[in-house]
Amino acid sequence: MGRIILTGDRPTGKLHLGHYVGSLRNRVLLQNEGNYERMFVFIADVQALTDNADNPEKVRQNIIEVALDYLSCGLDPEKVTIFIQSQIPELHEMTQFFSNLVTVQRLQRNPTVKSEMAMRGYNGESEDNNQRGLPVGFFTYPISQAADICAFKSTTVPVGEDQEPMIEQCREIVRSFNGTYKCDVLVEPEILLPGNIVCRRLPGTDGKAKMSKSLGNCIYLSDTPKDMEQKVKGMFTDPGHLRVEDPGKVEGNCVFTYLDAFCEADDFAKFWPDYACIEELKDHYRRGGLGDMKCKKFLIQVLNDRLDPIRARRHAYEQDIPEVYNILRKGSEAAREVAAKTLHEMKEAMQINYFDDAALIAEQAAKYCHEQ
Ligand code: TRP
Repeated sequence: MGRIILTGDRPTGKLHLGHYVGSLRNRVLLQNEGNYERMFVFIADVQALTDNADNPEKVRQNIIEVALDYLSCGLDPEKVTIFIQSQIPELHEMTQFFSNLVTVQRLQRNPTVKSEMAMRGYNGESEDNNQRGLPVGFFTYPISQAADICAFKSTTVPVGEDQEPMIEQCREIVRSFNGTYKCDVLVEPEILLPGNIVCRRLPGTDGKAKMSKSLGNCIYLSDTPKDMEQKVKGMFTDPGHLRVEDPGKVEGNCVFTYLDAFCEADDFAKFWPDYACIEELKDHYRRGGLGDMKCKKFLIQVLNDRLDPIRARRHAYEQDIPEVYNILRKGSEAAREVAAKTLHEMKEAMQINYFDDAALIAEQAAKYCHEQ
């Protein structure tokens, strides 16, 4: 059996460059290599609601944003099944069965759950001192995420590094299910991280560890060229590099981190032939005599070169929004068929498929039917 690739995003905002280098770019490459049996990409609206129960409108608005981001990056609905999580009710049945195989203690140890709880003040230590209760649905979302993965028998999950504990927990659930019900219905997935280490966690434009909407340090795929340019011009560099002549540091300098993530071999020939490669540019910056603004202008050119085709596709899809919903509807129908088949197999393994189980019915009949 070939690889089955699956990944998704929460529709809580527009997708940004961190999503792009961390996962989106890779998905399009995987799609175009064609080296898989099937590929699924989905919008995790149910997961988004686990900490947005009071704001379904936010989720509703962002479904189309994320769908446009997917399509504009080059995901092709002819090759990839694009769907919406909430449209696959089988996922919730699976989640329920899985939740009996997972302990509260195991969830509490999940590092991603821990840090996300802290970020949201669900651990009683929020910055604004508001003690927020921990929603059960949020706490257990790794179980529902395992259902997302298992329903499609995914072998390969391309995601960012922060999702590693989720995939590990999913693998445990698969082993537990197959072991408990003595079957091989479910498949252990593998995480697929970006090959380029800098792409695993792109810093924000302020140099903070992660690009994130709540930190306000994002460049969005849908930003206008002007907005993107402003953001790059204001980007965090080396605070010790005051005058052009000063030696500069490239480590922790966002401009160079972004160049490492985005630059391709022929960008220098195309946009800055003074240098042959990124190493030459870095050497000059380290020696001194190279100003930040020149490097930022180069980065702007590189980013525009990557983003222009994305912007053009986005513009085209924006002209036909009903068609975008249509793509999502068709994808959801196709995905549901696959999930229903897996759920059926799971119920068979658990032997809770009572009405299909002629042996069970005969056995019970024999037990109760006494000769007079
Ligand atoms: N948790 C993922 C995120 O926050 C989104 C997600 C939900 C996902 N279900 C998934 C990713 C299944 C991969 C596979 O980005």
